[in-house]
Amino acid sequence: MAKFPVYRGRRLRRTERLRAMVRETAIEASDLIAPLFVTYQEGRHPVAAMPGVAQLSVEAAAEEAAGLASLGVAAVLLFGIPESKDPRGSEAYAADGIVQRAVRAIKERVADLVVITDVCLCEYTDHGHCGLLTPEGEVNNDVTLELLARSAVSHAEAGADMVAPSDMMDGRVAAIRRALDEAGHLHMPIMSYAVKYASAFYGPFREAAESAPKFGDRRGYQMDPANADEGLREARVDIEEGADIIMVKPALPYLDVISRVKRETGYPVAAYHVSGEYSMLKAAAERGWIDEQRVLWETLLSIRRAGADLIITYYASQLAKMLGG
Ligand code: PBG
Repeated sequence: MAKFPVYRGRRLRRTERLRAMVRETAIEASDLIAPLFVTYQEGRHPVAAMPGVAQLSVEAAAEEAAGLASLGVAAVLLFGIPESKDPRGSEAYAADGIVQRAVRAIKERVADLVVITDVCLCEYTDHGHCGLLTPEGEVNNDVTLELLARSAVSHAEAGADMVAPSDMMDGRVAAIRRALDEAGHLHMPIMSYAVKYASAFYGPFREAAESAPKFGDRRGYQMDPANADEGLREARVDIEEGADIIMVKPALPYLDVISRVKRETGYPVAAYHVSGEYSMLKAAAERGWIDEQRVLWETLLSIRRAGADLIITYYASQLAKMLGG
């Protein structure tokens, strides 16, 4: 290794032109996925804990999607707030459910945008858990799989381009893959929330999606934040079951996991910069304590540097505008 004064790192830092020539990491609108919350209510309903984010009617969601596409954003990720909830989360797999309607409306309106749907029961069940319950109130893994698979097929039938199961039931990627294939959707990719932690950073999302569990918490199915090796196991199992893109979630507190999953699997990796990560930046920025744009840029660069190919973020449209889209 050449030492000082032979090595002078500052030689390439002196002008923006030089810095740009040796910059290792970039963020582009085509790496970004924007989550959208779709509701039966009219218009836009701001989410208090997430300034700038709103629940959208089907029409408003199509409008928003068109705007994102024109900014060059790669994809939207749809979450639905159903008309009514029940113990089996029926609207999750209804042909005319809210997400299925939103997919059709967006596909009719916007040509060049990947439409991804979140596959989970928690927004649709009256108890707010991600699967069906046993009489004892435990989430019943194996009977939930069929309903998740039905949801995924109904999204495919509505015209979705990709499904993203976020429930953390064991075996759900295999169940969904099999059901999609049997229904003829051989080319429908699965972006699996493979490494999803039981995180307090989801707090604001549960207001946005009206999906907070009515009792208990999700630690019986989502991962322990203390574990990284286990995250690798989850990623490998989902790959064996047929996942095409592996997601790590949340992003910033789990950069080590993103990095390992990317290095050890070589698969496309998506990182979910979740609601709490978004709201923290917004709150500090509103108080004038941080420079929002610069902190945001630095944060998302760290996620890309760790190895994420794609970033799911509520900042997608703001960022794409910053990028000059
Ligand atoms: C549904 C789901 C959640 C998020 C994405 N899909 C919430 C949860 O698991 O409680 C969180 C996203 C965010 O916080 O932005 N299971």
